[in-house]
Parts: sequence; C-alpha cells; structure tokens
Amino acid sequence: STIQWFPGHMAKARNQVQEKLKLVDIVLEIVDARIPISSQNPMLAEIIEHKPKIMILNKADLADPKQTEVWQAYFKQQGYASIAIDAQHKSQLPQINKVVRTVLKDKIQKQYDKGLKLAKVRAICIGIPNVGKSTILNRLVHKNIAKTGDRPGVTKNQQWLKVNEEFEVLDTPGILWPKFEDQTVGTKLALLGSIKDSIYADDDVALFALDYLKTHYAPRLLAAYKLNEADLDQDNPDLMLFLTKKLGFKEDYDQFAQRLILDIRKGRFGRLTFEDVVLATDTVGD
Ligand code: G4P
Repeated sequence: STIQWFPGHMAKARNQVQEKLKLVDIVLEIVDARIPISSQNPMLAEIIEHKPKIMILNKADLADPKQTEVWQAYFKQQGYASIAIDAQHKSQLPQINKVVRTVLKDKIQKQYDKGLKLAKVRAICIGIPNVGKSTILNRLVHKNIAKTGDRPGVTKNQQWLKVNEEFEVLDTPGILWPKFEDQTVGTKLALLGSIKDSIYADDDVALFALDYLKTHYAPRLLAAYKLNEADLDQDNPDLMLFLTKKLGFKEDYDQFAQRLILDIRKGRFGRLTFEDVVLATDTVGD
C-alpha cells in the first residue's frame, strides 16, 4: 500500500477529504498505536476545523499497552475521546459506535427532541496509508455488507455503509499523507513497514530501532539477543557491529539490520511503542 505523494496528489487528496467532510458528523482519525503522532497527517486538524473527532489507536495489539494508556490520557487532555483497538483480531469495534454516540450526544438529543425515532449519525475514517482504515471499515460494516449484497440493485455505487440503523460510514476512507518533512517520522514508518523499505536505508532504520530499544526496552533487547548489560555500553554503531557478528552475519551490517527490523515487526521483542509523550500535569492556582 505504498503511495507516491507529489504536490498535485497532496492537494487533490486534501480537497477530496474536505469535500467528504461536508457529508459527515464526525471523523474517525485512525492512527498506528505504536506511533500515534508520526502516523498522523500534519494538516488534518486544519482540514477538519471544528468537526468532532475520535482518535482510533489501531494495531493496539502490537503496541506497548502501558504506553497506549498514556497516549489515550494525552488525547483526552487534548480534548479527544480515543479508542485503542485491534481491528484484525479480537475486535472491539462496537466500542466505536458507543463512543461516537457519546461524543455526538447533543446532536442526537436534538434529533430525538424533534420527534425522530432514529437519530442517524454519519462518519468517515481518515488516516495515512497502512494504519488500518480499510480493515476497520470492513469490520465495522461486515454484517451489513453481506445483507445489502443479498438485495439486487443496491450493491453498486453506494456511498454509505450501515454499521447499524443509526450509524453510517462513508464507503471510502480519506487517505492523507504522513509528515514527510520529519526524517524521524519516515524512519518510524519504514520500521513498522508502512512505507516502502527502499526509501529509507535499513541500517538507518535499524540504528534508530536499536537506540530506541536500548533506551526504552533494554531488558527485552538483552533477553532477545542474549546480551550482557555491559554490551549496551558501546555506542550504537559499535553495538550494531557487535550484534552483526554475534548473530553470525560476520561483517554484514545490512543483514543484521534487516534481521532486527524483522524481529521487531514479528513481535520478537513483544509489544512496542516507538513514541513517548509527557502528560501535562494539573497546575493548582497560579
Ligand atoms: P489502510 O486501509 O489504512 O491502508 O490499511 P489496511 O486496512 O489495508 O491495513 C494495513 C495492514 O495492517 C494490513 O495488513 C492489515 O491486515 C493490518 N492491520 C490492520 N489493522 C490491524 C490491527 O489492529 N492489528 C494488526 N496487527 N494488524 C492490523 P496486510 O494487508 O497484511 O499488510 P502488511 O501487514 O503486509 O503491511
């Protein structure tokens, strides 16, 4: 799912999202729970303006659960409800419906006050490539897709997919670009396989990953590669070379780099989050 973004494409994507936003009550912003900031689009806030938004921290099954809690607290401080989910397996997707209705409760109440039996809300999934927009969309409406498919004539060109009688989602997600101008963002996206590996050199990505593991998940690094604590005293390039030899790749730095990246993606180090956040503390008085 690699997309080449050029200025023309970016302008077009932005316009498309802006047009679609006019049709919905609420935005489901999908991010990767392992990199909740780097997997955001730099302009989305500006594009959305005052439309309500819920942060969906997807791929939470791969992220460090403690960090996910901190990130959810952070988004709450920012004024956003958030949900951490694994769209692929043990799905908590009904939660989305619940949170949507909580966030839109005033709007919903107005509809009931007008005497409407059903208070319909409409949403769109928006995010950068590979965060899981399509997976979420498909899981959200799975049953309904099957149902409408049974009725002839209504399967083509439908714009709205029913989650239930009162909740519809736009049938195509809004795709926006990541923050390319920040090199670390690109490195993180490459590490997690969200952009083409060839754009970023494996050894740069591996060096970043090694440094992050060393500083945030040292015990797991020690255990996975059977290292002694003192081995971590080396600077990162030396540690890379040390590990390259230790794992039997002789002098082949790149092979170790690929191995490390694969080990991370395959969960050899457990559930990892590659971004920290420091929560604002409540200030009392002046
Ligand atoms: P997109 O529409 O936002 O571009 O993302 P999409 O749904 O295609 O999902 C991208 C990849 O991430 C897919 O894997 C999908 O199965 C996986 N994925 C989506 N949600 C989750 C989740 O909550 N947990 C985990 N573990 N994986 C998730 P894929 O098609 O196999 O692609 P790839 O893994 O080869 O990149």
